[in-house]
Amino acid sequence: MDSLKTAKSDQIVVVGQLGQTLDGRIACANGASKYINGSDALDHLHALRANADAIIVGVGTVVADDPQLTVRRCNGSSPRAVVIDPGRRTPPDARLFGAHTEKPLFIRREDDVQHEDEIGVAMLPPGEGEDRPMLDPVSVVNALAARGYRRILVEGGASTLSHFINHRAIDKLHILMAPIILGSGVSGLNLTPIDSLNGAIRPDVRLIQFDDGDVLYECTMQSVWSAD
Ligand SMILES: NC(=O)c1ccc[n+]([C@@H]2O[C@H](COP(=O)([O-])OP(=O)(O)OC[C@H]3O[C@@H](n4cnc5c(N)ncnc54)[C@H](OP(=O)(O)O)[C@@H]3O)[C@@H](O)[C@H]2O)c1
Repeated sequence: MDSLKTAKSDQIVVVGQLGQTLDGRIACANGASKYINGSDALDHLHALRANADAIIVGVGTVVADDPQLTVRRCNGSSPRAVVIDPGRRTPPDARLFGAHTEKPLFIRREDDVQHEDEIGVAMLPPGEGEDRPMLDPVSVVNALAARGYRRILVEGGASTLSHFINHRAIDKLHILMAPIILGSGVSGLNLTPIDSLNGAIRPDVRLIQFDDGDVLYECTMQSVWSAD
């Protein structure tokens, strides 16, 4: 079930996770999201963390949720926390600073690296509907791999994960579906629009039903690494 655990030592494996409702929401309209998933799904998330070398979040998640990004619900050491934060929006009192023995790594623009705990990566040209260029997810992964972090968990949020999927930088996507319907609120994935169903991603999917009602959809994606 956990491709991070079974990865060979020199292999890059990137797992994305998203907890969502039956109608594809990750939060209420006011941002309230605790907790969409049940206890079993949280256990699963912590097991993923325990098998990862690094765990990536976008700065939006740090600002909204103030996560610690540590392993607490199972045995295992916490992965290196990595925040994609080109605009330096991480609050100085964010909990992840105190939660890890090593400082979090920050992903910045290539020309804006100021400290050893920062990695600069290439920018992409602005995509359709985007008002500013984004950092290239493939460059992010390659830069982490160059530092020895090859088993990578992309924990969110939605826009960070969507960008990784758009750029084929996810090998496995774990969608943790909670059996609830919000009917309004914040949507999960938001990928590049397609014109017909022929353009839909159709991953191989394995289903795992948890005892408390959530269902894990483990999707095998085509990444730039898996295509090698
Ligand atoms: N249900 C779940 O599994 C789950 C998991 C995690 C988070 N969440 C929820 O997701 C929400 C936050 O998600 P979000 O989509 O608003 O924010 P996010 O994905 O956490 O962070 C997005 C921000 O990170 C920076 N960023 C990320 N990737 C980038 C890239 N490739 N290039 C340049 N900048 C990049 C940008 O910062 P700048 O704007 O500063 O440029 C961007 O606006 C929260 O409500 C949180 O509760 C849900």
